[in-house]
Amino acid sequence: MAAPPRREAKPPGPCTMVIFGAGGDLTKRLLVPALYNLAHTGLLPETFELIGVDLADLDADTWRDSLHRMMESFIGKAAGESRIDRIEDDVWQHLTGRMSYIKGDFSDDGLYQMLKRRLEQASGTGGNCLFYLAVADRFFEPVVTRIGKAGLFEENWDQDGQKPERWRRVVIEKPFGHDEASAKALNAAILRVAEEHQIFRIDHFLGKETVQNIMALRFANGMFEPLWNRDRIDHVQITAAETVGVETRGRFYEKTGALRDMVPNHVFQLLAMVAMEPPAGFDARAVRNRKTDVFTAMHTVDPKDAVRGQYGPGPDGVAGYRQEQDVDPDSGTETYVAMKLGIDNWRWAGVPFYLRTGKHMTRRVTEIAIRFKPAPSAPFEDTDVAALPPNWLLLRIQPEESIALQFEVKRPGPVVDLAAVRMAFKYADWFPKEPNIGYETLIYDVMTGDQTLFNRADMVEETWRVVGKVLETWTAEKAAGFPNYTSGSEGPADADALMQRDGRAWRPLAEER
Ligand code: BG6
Repeated sequence: MAAPPRREAKPPGPCTMVIFGAGGDLTKRLLVPALYNLAHTGLLPETFELIGVDLADLDADTWRDSLHRMMESFIGKAAGESRIDRIEDDVWQHLTGRMSYIKGDFSDDGLYQMLKRRLEQASGTGGNCLFYLAVADRFFEPVVTRIGKAGLFEENWDQDGQKPERWRRVVIEKPFGHDEASAKALNAAILRVAEEHQIFRIDHFLGKETVQNIMALRFANGMFEPLWNRDRIDHVQITAAETVGVETRGRFYEKTGALRDMVPNHVFQLLAMVAMEPPAGFDARAVRNRKTDVFTAMHTVDPKDAVRGQYGPGPDGVAGYRQEQDVDPDSGTETYVAMKLGIDNWRWAGVPFYLRTGKHMTRRVTEIAIRFKPAPSAPFEDTDVAALPPNWLLLRIQPEESIALQFEVKRPGPVVDLAAVRMAFKYADWFPKEPNIGYETLIYDVMTGDQTLFNRADMVEETWRVVGKVLETWTAEKAAGFPNYTSGSEGPADADALMQRDGRAWRPLAEER
């Protein structure tokens, strides 16, 4: 069977994109390659203007050259975030043909006045503008406030007030706050100058095809729904394991830690996709309402149900976290988190969700594993139900993108003997791999005004509430016994104990997938 023909997407209407943090890593490694891929697939607006803003002493030509050099470094690198074979001149020209650079200090009101003039001069963009904050989180509030003060969020709506004739939108990266109170304060500050429909709180996990596919799997197929509840599901394990350490981000990571960096955002987004009720439609309001219901129904995690870890040195001279650049040699920051969560609603009451995420682990795996309850009885000789390997549905987000079902079959032979086997769908077997680093869909959605894959103010606040007690406890009490797992291992022993307490075990990371 061949993959069905695709529904073609149309390029968004004309616009300007202003990138604050034009000289930064995010812009070079992810945003510009994603914009290039959009241009390559015909999904960049035909009339598109790019304005870079940063402190660095650049001009349009030097900025363009530095971006080109970065793109060149991606050519032929299969393992890199951006996989391209060459830079096509016409595509590059479309992306950078109308680009400019403004050198400026984000705290200088004059910068925003200059931007205003530049936007007024932009021809053919209809005044539409997307501000992308590719900057450290301490700049979110001051930059957004100044954009607002300069009147740059003002839109023109059509007579019925249904559609903006000139739109203005802002994309805000993570971390969105560092706890519930700061997230609320940031939301309040932003909402003083912009309206919710203009605010796109981004979580790049939602740009991953396999994450979006969870909704398709659940809601475009009738066969899973009868199984998708507390009657049939024993528990859910969500894993986001990385093999990389903190690399050069020690300064950021020291004050962030694995919990803030990954859990209330990326991992919770995976959880919401699995746990949400069917939305009334696939518009932003319906989908985000259902996700918010999940976050609202989640218990505030008891610190007794959370485990933290920090990697120590590993084999072959791999440095421990405390030896990394810009890290305190006595650091108490966690690089690993595991926790057990409960969702208080009719579908999930009593079904534990176990999450774990960590750096420098055995294997890079992002996976959702759903374990089903055993058969009620096992009418096979010498087999009791407890001895049967469980049925699992495995949704693999990365690096291998697949969906697999594990179930029991009869082993060939004269006696009835059972064996666990896997049936697997691999994306790569059905769909040609197109260059995609995950930001393409999200940037495209901002340009078309679709907020479905972005966080609403209340969602972010709820997620911080869920981890609030753990954060408080961990901030107040420095972890004892750090480092407590070896680089390249499966994580700390306490995380295994968290499962064993409930008579369960983590799926081994090292297992062939
Ligand atoms: C980022 C975190 O948001 O996500 C990083 O700050 C982490 O620490 C990264 O490595 C993981 O994303 P991905 O797409 O590489 O799985």
